[in-house]
Amino acid sequence: KILILDFGSQVTQLIARRVREAHVYCEVHPCDVTDEWVRDYAKDGSLKGIILSGSHASVYEDTTDKAPEAVFQLGVPVLGICYGMQTMAHQLGGKVEGGHKREFGFAAVRARGHTALLKDIADFTTPEGHGMLNVWMSHGDKVTELPPGFKLMASTESCPIAGMADEDRRFYAVQFHPEVTHTVQGRALLDRFVLGICGTSPDWVMRDHIAEAVEQIRQQVGDEEVILGLSGGVDSSVAAALIHRAIGDQLTCVFVDHGLLRLNEGDMVMDMFVGKLHAKVIRVDASDLFLGKLAGVSEPEQKRKIIGGLFVDVFKQEAAKLKGDGAKGETGGRTVKGATWLAQGTIYPDVIESGGAKSKKAVTIKSHHNVGGLPEQLGLKLLEPLRDLFKDEVRELGVALGLPPEMVYRHPFPGPGLGVRILGEVKKEYADLLRRADAIFIEELRNHVDEATGKTWYDLTSQAFTVFLPVKSVGVMGDGRTYDYVVALRAVQTSDFMTADWAELPYALLKKVSGRIINEVRGINRVTYDVSSKPPATIEWE
Ligand code: XMP
Repeated sequence: KILILDFGSQVTQLIARRVREAHVYCEVHPCDVTDEWVRDYAKDGSLKGIILSGSHASVYEDTTDKAPEAVFQLGVPVLGICYGMQTMAHQLGGKVEGGHKREFGFAAVRARGHTALLKDIADFTTPEGHGMLNVWMSHGDKVTELPPGFKLMASTESCPIAGMADEDRRFYAVQFHPEVTHTVQGRALLDRFVLGICGTSPDWVMRDHIAEAVEQIRQQVGDEEVILGLSGGVDSSVAAALIHRAIGDQLTCVFVDHGLLRLNEGDMVMDMFVGKLHAKVIRVDASDLFLGKLAGVSEPEQKRKIIGGLFVDVFKQEAAKLKGDGAKGETGGRTVKGATWLAQGTIYPDVIESGGAKSKKAVTIKSHHNVGGLPEQLGLKLLEPLRDLFKDEVRELGVALGLPPEMVYRHPFPGPGLGVRILGEVKKEYADLLRRADAIFIEELRNHVDEATGKTWYDLTSQAFTVFLPVKSVGVMGDGRTYDYVVALRAVQTSDFMTADWAELPYALLKKVSGRIINEVRGINRVTYDVSSKPPATIEWE
């Protein structure tokens, strides 16, 4: 295994991710663990190497951390990254100074290929024959004097010591960030360290993560009860499946149906979690409540606030029933003791987005934006087993847990659901029409295979859905005139949902979808295709 000591950088989890991608098991622990802890951790001989992460602090600020001295005494390879390099230099007798010029962004680093870490790794060669690396730098301080025993491994003009190595002790350090994709050879470098220098074997797979996570959840929770808000989305589903695997009936899921879900979605969630996984799920049908409060409201922000607020209220009510000493709830004939934990499907990008990397140095950690503040309000402890994983890792985990790939690879669906896909006032009649039209669109996207790639158009798009426009247009059906509603199809391709292009769906597919919707959904007589990119349009219409 590899130990990553976290000094508080926002990208520490990316290091862990890269190690997992190399199929090596790793753990992230805070940098202020004690010497005894480190020695104990290494005792069984399974520790093959240590990585010291970056930080946003400076080595010479009073408040900053050092690596436990034991790190340098165990005889295992150590890699320092950014701040990790500086503290390594400082602790081993070198010198670090406040950089005169702050480097932030791309830099070309001259890589001295004589070390085991960088040998034959280069992006290009200068006319003088120097191997160069394109890297991502972000630092103010820099190492100005090598510690005894170290030699220079990399340099830039403004940072003459951008990498250093003591190959006898197998200590390596780089000032740049190999864990980010901007550092082109970063993966090669980390692979080289973890597999080559540390000599780990690449046999870790996501399935192994289940056993580790299950063990951790069991230890954390003991014999207490956990509640979880199940939405049917990927993150809460995978969290539920994982926690259920760990503690079975000690988990109760609360599934709030706000009446703005997709066709049969509620039943599918129940089939999966109750029917197949045999989990305890309380389904709360709150559609009348939601639709009632939404009546007469057409302003998008107001609609969002109403839906978000009600969701929290309903969840709190249900949770309160399950909470507290001696409180009892009935689910499927089984009695639930008082719950003391709230589980959430928070994943690592949510943690970063809300400004709190998992680190003692990080700013206040906010809870998941969908149910922000709930644990405090409910007085429950927070269980977040996906907190360190990235979206694609969560999906992989979901499949390994036996969730169907169609569920795990589903397009994202907004919390307010169809509430933001029915323009203006939300009515049950509109939601029913929209659900049926949308199901046809999605079914055809799944049916149509692109010959060039062999993939379905559902997989070739990042998000696709139907929008209900509460306007009527004239049409003709048979010999009769119709005067019915309009829907718009929306399909986009994007990598991060911050910007998006509308998808160039094949005409044959659009034709099939429009024909089916108009013929099968009485009440809709016109289908349009949205050809707006984001920006300036957004993906959702409201
Ligand atoms: P926009 O419309 O802002 O959407 O381009 C970007 C992505 O965010 C999703 N989205 C939401 N997801 N709660 C969510 O969980 C929300 O309130 C919400 N609003 C938009 C949207 O579906 C798209 O994937």
